[in-house]
Amino acid sequence: MKGKKIIVGVTGSIAIIKTTQLVRLLTKLGCEVKVVMTSAATQFVTPMTFASLSGHPIYSDFTENKDTGEWTNHVHLGLWADAIVIAPCSANTLAKLATGQCDNFLMAVVMSARCPMFVAPAMDHDMFLHQGTQNNLQQLTQRGNILLDPAEGSLASGLEGKGRMMEPEQMIVKIQSYFQPDSKLEGKKILITAGPTYEPIDPVRFIGNHSSGKMGFALAEAAAQRGANVTLIAGPNHLKVNHPLITYIGVTTAAEMAKHCCALFPNMHIGILAAAVADYTPAEMASQKIKKTHASLNIQLKPTLDILQELGRQKSSEQKLIGFALETENLIENAQEKIKKKNLDFIVANPANEKNAGFGGDMNTVTLIDSDLRYTPLPTQTKEKIAHQILDHLCSQHL
Ligand code: CTP
Repeated sequence: MKGKKIIVGVTGSIAIIKTTQLVRLLTKLGCEVKVVMTSAATQFVTPMTFASLSGHPIYSDFTENKDTGEWTNHVHLGLWADAIVIAPCSANTLAKLATGQCDNFLMAVVMSARCPMFVAPAMDHDMFLHQGTQNNLQQLTQRGNILLDPAEGSLASGLEGKGRMMEPEQMIVKIQSYFQPDSKLEGKKILITAGPTYEPIDPVRFIGNHSSGKMGFALAEAAAQRGANVTLIAGPNHLKVNHPLITYIGVTTAAEMAKHCCALFPNMHIGILAAAVADYTPAEMASQKIKKTHASLNIQLKPTLDILQELGRQKSSEQKLIGFALETENLIENAQEKIKKKNLDFIVANPANEKNAGFGGDMNTVTLIDSDLRYTPLPTQTKEKIAHQILDHLCSQHL
């Protein structure tokens, strides 16, 4: 953290008193901190407080350079930063961040910046749960910003619930882990598969599944954040790749995915296969749309290549291979069998039919099972957090 340039953006909320501690901790770690206050923030704490703690003047207005006539200090400040932390982030500022509304100095700094942004919401329970706030948060995190999730507890209004700004010590852990990720993955080449495959029946129909690709994309993003060079091969999806260390290859069918995986895996250090690949594909694709008749229709299916099993067969002693197991019954037993059959280092076992698990949602519940059959259940949490825990497990137990 030493020498990192951090902008702390402070908005109008009583949680601002905790931000004084955040600025103190950051400067103690050797960061250079500049504080930008909105005018609402100055109603809670005087600029002098943050100026004393940060050792820099407070920034809250556009200033003009008298000699040159320029008034672009927001741009210089935005480009100066290695990270921006908005703490506390009021519901109003959150909405502006989500929509890019630029009506004050803080927003102009944020919009000029190219660095990562951490957002620490602080507001009352109902305001936090309001669909508008939740939509704004979703938009912000989807764009790669990092949420410093508020805690539950007693709130300034006297109510109880979620909305208390994260404690400064916890924020420091999050910011630190962004700058000092586990270096074991730095420079490693990782192949990740994600999403469903679509197997064409005729020019307008296919056999597919409900996989959204979120788990595989979260893994790709988390590995790239740790400095890995990621190749992400994904079936049809609606997601976006954000990180420059991710090379994206979009495919449609199991055969296309298999072709790319088999060609690329020999040059990879690690393979993580999270895709929900079709096990069967139509033996032949009809060249024209199949017309409706009154008779029943049989479509002959043939098995696809099991990509994971094939990579397990090719795997060298230096390579690591991780699979997923999606099960509706006998989760642990079936997953253990797949580890052996596919020659894996570990498997992520995923119950398909439980709440907050499996396809589509933002949350997941998984158990990590090692080849020696030790198993580690993880709590139900976001797919982003699970992705990081899978990588933590890989780094601590297998690299
Ligand atoms: N997988 C693969 N290629 C296939 C099928 C599966 O690479 N043709 C991979 C998946 O990406 C996942 C793992 O194998 O990492 C397990 O997939 P899953 O669907 O749970 O199991 P299957 O091996 O297909 O067995 P079953 O459907 O009988 O449970």
